[in-house]
Amino acid sequence: MTNSTIMYTGMLHSHKLFVILFLLIYLIKTLLLLLNKNESLVNFTKKTRILEMIVSTLFLVTGIFLASNSGTNGTWLWVKIAAVAISIPIAVIAFKGQKKSLALVSLFLIIYAYGISETKSPTFKKEKVEMLASGDRSAVGQDVYAKMCQSCHGINGKAGMSGAKDLSISNLSNDEKIAIIKHGKNAMIPYEKSLNEEQIAAVADYIETLKIK
Ligand code: HEC
Repeated sequence: MTNSTIMYTGMLHSHKLFVILFLLIYLIKTLLLLLNKNESLVNFTKKTRILEMIVSTLFLVTGIFLASNSGTNGTWLWVKIAAVAISIPIAVIAFKGQKKSLALVSLFLIIYAYGISETKSPTFKKEKVEMLASGDRSAVGQDVYAKMCQSCHGINGKAGMSGAKDLSISNLSNDEKIAIIKHGKNAMIPYEKSLNEEQIAAVADYIETLKIK
């Protein structure tokens, strides 16, 4: 593993953990507000104040790191950042003024942002990419690589965005490569559903040509 891969993967896992902790604290506070448990809400807020500050800071810092080192800065990322950014002042106003509807709006925005992250799409739908589905093997491989892989691995396989491995020095067997392409690994998503067998075999061949001989 290269250092950047370890760093990115570590950040990715930490970010998810901080987001989940943040969501949990926020969910409990919203529930207490909705159930009119004002005293418990005040107590809970006091007890978790420091924790919440630490968690939200780390959640933002890891998020900024991931966004700036990521190879897939699609629209979804901006929609997600906007949803989180809008939800924060709404949450502050909601809890200051004990406004239940605003607390719900803010909670909804945060959950929406989480959904975007998981699906990499503002509408939670996979976008369709037009690619050669079959035919000349090297043309198919090159086409698939340019449309699905290059954003992280780069034209020469060395870009290393999102902690991607340097393909020009990779020494995996053909089967191992195909397994990673099919099932994904860490920041790399699985392609089993979006590519057919022929495309997977072709792109595995294509990345062989990126190797430094
Ligand atoms: C979102 C960014 C991203 C995209 C897009 C992406 N990869 Fe990756 N790829 C990665 C990351 C990250 C790793 C390292 C995974 C790990 O070991 O933690 C990786 C690792 C690999 C490896 C293993 C290399 C080794 O030596 O271990 C292969 C092979 C590979 N990718 C091929 C592809 C192909 C082919 C595509 C397109 C179909 C693709 N990748 C698209 C991020 C990406």
